Amino acid sequence: MHVTLHKNGSILTLHEEADLRFHAIWLRDNAQDSETRAPGNGQRLIALRDIPKDTHISEASLDGDTLRVTFEPEGKTVSFDITWLKGHAYDRSCSPARGWLAPDIETWTSHMQADVPTGQFPSLVQRGDAFVDWIEKITRFGFGKIENGPIKEGALFDVVDLFGFVRETNYGKCFEVRTEVNPTNLAFTGLGLQAHTDNPYRDPVPTVQILYCLESSASGGENMVVDGFACAHRLREENPDYFDVLSRYCARFEYAGEDGVCLTSRRPLIELAPDGELIGVRFNNRSLAAVTDVPFSEMELWYAAYRRLGEIIDDPAMEIVFRLEPGEAFLVDNTRVLHARKAYSGTGTRWLQGCYAEKDGLRSTRDALHRANLEAAE
Ligand code: FE2
Repeated sequence: MHVTLHKNGSILTLHEEADLRFHAIWLRDNAQDSETRAPGNGQRLIALRDIPKDTHISEASLDGDTLRVTFEPEGKTVSFDITWLKGHAYDRSCSPARGWLAPDIETWTSHMQADVPTGQFPSLVQRGDAFVDWIEKITRFGFGKIENGPIKEGALFDVVDLFGFVRETNYGKCFEVRTEVNPTNLAFTGLGLQAHTDNPYRDPVPTVQILYCLESSASGGENMVVDGFACAHRLREENPDYFDVLSRYCARFEYAGEDGVCLTSRRPLIELAPDGELIGVRFNNRSLAAVTDVPFSEMELWYAAYRRLGEIIDDPAMEIVFRLEPGEAFLVDNTRVLHARKAYSGTGTRWLQGCYAEKDGLRSTRDALHRANLEAAE
């Protein structure tokens, strides 16, 4: 391994198994010394304006696993850990396909029916290996079940406490899902529902939904989940134009079903990051508003694509079905996994409580546990 400098010290190349190029400005901005980064919390202490525009490298040398770099005109010498540099290298040539997925995500279909990520509540609250395993699977697959939880009102908040905080909405801190005499929302009746993501009319949407079962003596009412990312990928394979039109144009969503509430959003059914990463699916027939942001010449294509995406979502080959018993709950990544309920009979009772939370808490908890385990192993 050795290093070379190019273009008057504006580029440094680390010659490893593959050559990894770094810009002088990137290296300077990412210096890990105590004047650049706070030793305690790691936060950056300088702004880009504090780094000279003409920053370049005058000297670079390797000493074991350390790279020492001198930046001019500051005359500042900084050490970089080689493992850190390799872990943060950005010198890649590939331009991934539109709809690529982050490496910590795995799509699924009905084949995963026998292997639903499931955690036992009493062991999850211990926050040991079982919890690490469960939270890893939840973030990877975008959903999971919890069994053997307490059968008491508000128990769903104990689930949220495992990883984050409740997202309160106009439906309250939590909402009751059971038959009501005067339903304001179809979710509160006994009808079956098409698989959907919740609340696409919010901006931002709640990114996690939890449904917790407290009573279940009515027949039917099974819960079903569908991986929206798997559906989007299948649509892309079947017809790239369909995938393209649904990701390129915004739909509109609206909920104005109660006094004082008029929630609207403008987002695509399939959401990509600027570099093409698949980051979200919104699908909810009940709250789709008039779509007015698709050009006239593309509207028929958009509707054909929307119809086909719905057919894929309805395909039993895409769905996982399970029944929640009292003390059981499920959790979904609401930016990705659609959920539905099959119809249930009016006799007996079925009572679930639902609430929203955010998936940054899930990811943060997972990553903090991972870091703690790494530190413990050192
Ligand atoms: Fe829902």
